[in-house]
Amino acid sequence: MKILLGITGGIAAYKSLELTRLFVKTGHQVQVVMTSGAKAFIQPLSFQALSGNPVRDSLFDCHQEAGMGHIELARWADQIVIAPASAETLAKLRMGRADDLLTTLCLATEKPIMVAPAMNRLMWSNKATQENVQILKQRGFEVLDPEEGKQACGEVGAGRMPEPQAIFEHTMNAQQQRQHLEQRLLDVRAFWQNRSILITAGPTIEDIDPVRFIGNRSSGKMGFALAEAAQKLGANVTLIAGPVQISSPPTIKRIDVRSADQMFHAVQQHYAGKDVFISAAAVADFKVAQKSVKKIKKQAQEEGLLLSLVKNVDIVAWVAEQENKPFVVGFAAETDHVLEYAKEKLKRKKLDAIIANEVGEGAKGFESNRNCVTLITKDGLQAFEEASKKQLGFQLLDAISSLGFNKTSVCN
Ligand code: C5P
Repeated sequence: MKILLGITGGIAAYKSLELTRLFVKTGHQVQVVMTSGAKAFIQPLSFQALSGNPVRDSLFDCHQEAGMGHIELARWADQIVIAPASAETLAKLRMGRADDLLTTLCLATEKPIMVAPAMNRLMWSNKATQENVQILKQRGFEVLDPEEGKQACGEVGAGRMPEPQAIFEHTMNAQQQRQHLEQRLLDVRAFWQNRSILITAGPTIEDIDPVRFIGNRSSGKMGFALAEAAQKLGANVTLIAGPVQISSPPTIKRIDVRSADQMFHAVQQHYAGKDVFISAAAVADFKVAQKSVKKIKKQAQEEGLLLSLVKNVDIVAWVAEQENKPFVVGFAAETDHVLEYAKEKLKRKKLDAIIANEVGEGAKGFESNRNCVTLITKDGLQAFEEASKKQLGFQLLDAISSLGFNKTSVCN
């Protein structure tokens, strides 16, 4: 692995000599970049001797830039490790500043960046530093929290840089995990490539008269996230969407509908030949028996208005009954007894799998950008941690691909 090791100003800089040695000893290439603060603590020559490469410290040095420019250096690295990372460097990274070589490199790369902060305990616990660290974590930086103990300044508390062996092991584990994830993504892509998938999403609307309707609170975000993830994984996606204000990429074949009847007709036209059908739409269970052509006048309804409702077709159950049906995945949005009701639905509707999620007050489900779901089949269940609907789209398709289905269903 090619490791770009950033050293910033802190007494812990001496520990990074050992870190450099550990990387080099295990066959990794190391290029060291030092800030001016780091050079106040330790000589560049020591890092040069251990890494076998000249140490880079300046953004505007013609000689150095002629060898390997800063953009080239950013491209060269597979992994950036900043150890020790000073409070100042953390703040600069958070701000996106580029006033020295190290911070410029970090702006000019998409490679993983790991930071090992080291500083006085009060500097570490300061709200400013903590906020900077939180934001860096959210942006995907990996932060190795400092250890507690006696500090070089004589105080005792959290702020010591972890030992070189721990940073080394962490870097190696992170690399292994990334490789594993990349391989998994390739496998999932290979699975979905050219498979065809039909997804319904959003609410349906049942008109009462030309002005009023019965609707529900589905935002369509989960179904759209699944459709987008499937399209990114190489599947041919047909999306049947109830009335929502969400755009979808042109490569997704999209059919917009309004009522449950319209959704049913669209599904009837498009389910044949599909590998998978995911019914994420919140289809209305009932429609108005006699839709009024004219606006119903309230003056004419002295006793109140009694609406007669009739059942809509259960679309997902209908697909599950068809010969040559795709692999059928339903959703169960429930306010309580979520898993129990979802399992009952899986059986009753003869689905191959069902995705259960809690909705209602305090739950993520409807309207939110995040969700918390459980995938259930007759063989067991897989709970997913709360995540954005976009992330869950990928995770669910990954999990569905592991269910080992062919064109013909494996369940029921
Ligand atoms: O019975 P319930 O509406 O809770 O079931 C939810 C699942 O059934 C979802 O996958 C939903 O898309 C699907 N459904 C359907 N047609 C209906 C009602 C629900 O496809 N009329």
